[in-house]
Amino acid sequence: MCSIIGYAGPAGAAPILVRGLRRMEYRGYDSVGVATSSGGKMSLEKGVGRVSEVNEARGLDALPGTVGIGHTRWATHGGVTRANAHPHSSSSGAVAVVHNGIIENFAELREALEAGGFSFSSETDTEVISNQLQSDLEAGGGPKEAMVRTLARLRGRYAFVAMFGDGTLAAARFHRPLIVGVGRGAYLLSSDVLGFVEQTDDAIYVGNGDFVTVSPGAGGGAELRVFGFDGSPARRQVTKISKEFADTYKGEYAHFTLKEICEQPDAVLRVGANTPGAAAAAAALVRGAPAGSVYVTGSGTSYNAALVAKHVMLRHGGVRVEPIMSSEFPHSPVSMDGGSVLLALSQSGETADVIGAAAAAKEAGARVASVVNVMNSSLAQESDVVMGMNCGPEIGVAATKSFTAQLRAIHEVTREIAVGRGGHLPRPGAVSAAISGMLEGQAGIKALAREMRDVSDVYVMGRGVHYPIAAEAALKLKELAYVHAEGIPGGELKHGPLALMDEGVYAVMINPTDSTHAATLTGAREIKARGARIIGVSDARSDVYDRWVRIPGGDEAAYPVTEIVPIQLLAYYLALEKDADPDYPRNLAKSVTVE
Ligand code: AGP
Repeated sequence: MCSIIGYAGPAGAAPILVRGLRRMEYRGYDSVGVATSSGGKMSLEKGVGRVSEVNEARGLDALPGTVGIGHTRWATHGGVTRANAHPHSSSSGAVAVVHNGIIENFAELREALEAGGFSFSSETDTEVISNQLQSDLEAGGGPKEAMVRTLARLRGRYAFVAMFGDGTLAAARFHRPLIVGVGRGAYLLSSDVLGFVEQTDDAIYVGNGDFVTVSPGAGGGAELRVFGFDGSPARRQVTKISKEFADTYKGEYAHFTLKEICEQPDAVLRVGANTPGAAAAAAALVRGAPAGSVYVTGSGTSYNAALVAKHVMLRHGGVRVEPIMSSEFPHSPVSMDGGSVLLALSQSGETADVIGAAAAAKEAGARVASVVNVMNSSLAQESDVVMGMNCGPEIGVAATKSFTAQLRAIHEVTREIAVGRGGHLPRPGAVSAAISGMLEGQAGIKALAREMRDVSDVYVMGRGVHYPIAAEAALKLKELAYVHAEGIPGGELKHGPLALMDEGVYAVMINPTDSTHAATLTGAREIKARGARIIGVSDARSDVYDRWVRIPGGDEAAYPVTEIVPIQLLAYYLALEKDADPDYPRNLAKSVTVE
């Protein structure tokens, strides 16, 4: 993966670009380059090597001007040479471009441009973008018109930033990430939030098939506009990103999502360590509440954790809690008063629906105990008791380590409720060891993802406490791999869903050898008889499984935390098979701060 970045604003562009490129170097690099524009004159330097080496040799961060673009290259078309390093300027120098992805029809475009008198100095597909933009600019209009014409010609999956002679930046995204950092009178255009996190925590995730222009505004600022590829105005939503990005690197991982899945054995051990006494305080609130007046709420993955809480807190703590989806809170027959308690689960602590539910509970006089990962979040400030998930920044949009951290927090609150009442909950170390065991099985999961590359429908089934896990598994497959997936309570099969089972379908059975095992196996046989392929997630093999995903057995209470891990991995590898960006799934943002 290459990294692209652009800056336009009141400050010197080059140092900002170089710092951003350094933060994105994990994405791969073999060469680096920066181009800036000052007074209509373009300066460009590039070379082979790491950011710091090329900067040392060529003074990248000393180039003049308050507008510029930068790039770290991971070679696809053309060898690792200075000539192939980005930025690539057009024949006349009117346009310079940095690019991530592939232009599939670059050969035919290059042939037509050469016939039209354009010259090329590299073997890259990128150079056709800069020359095509120059050609389309010369056809009349300005950078926006040139972008519409050029984008209509390009085929492939790409994101690029172009810098025009008048200091305008333009950037387009088609199946490769492009995010706008919104600063004070400044904009940054980047492959990755890390490229601009030092400058701002306000971001616009550019939609697939959209482009943006950033033109020098009045008074030295810059002006952003967003368009569809056809030039029509497009929507934009500013999202808050986690400031903790600043201290987060992927290390040797290709994506944050994989890194965070693999961090789970450690993360589950740290839950609550930053809020000593919080689990006991939350347990006291719950124990002190009249029967039937304890609610648990969350959205998305956090709601699936709330469904698990219902099972765990009743079975192991003897307390009945009612799960309510945060977005449904205003429409639910909830009667709260001063004796009520609301448990609010939220990784970001900024989800508008969850904050709304907590505010409504407080309004009714109820007490709120929240489980959050971001301790200075709005939800935390709204709560009477705050328990820290303490699992470190979760950068990938898909919740992974935060989900297992939430389940562990539910264990600890339940353990405090159950004091003196028996009940069994797994020790943190046993959960950690079980997850570690799962992470060793990635090769099998990768192969399964390859087999499922063209799958269109996946149904995930589980009974009892495994149904919320089935729902979470389906959510992961949807948001990471864009596959239609549905979580189904295992006992509901014959009440309708069995009609969906046929050859083209995969059925994932969450089926550890606990009290639900035999019934779930029977359901698997019924589905298999209809031609679907069966994936068994279990600690025991069965002839009915076409593929067996093994999970460690032994501790029934640990199953919900461990059995989700192979599905997280499956969704991640399936995303790669489908050429989706696991860290920034289309249409989604890490925190839904609007209702
Ligand atoms: C889960 O993978 C999604 N990213 C999404 O459903 C998320 O769980 C939901 O938006 C709630 O976020 P929160 O935990 O930060 O409140």
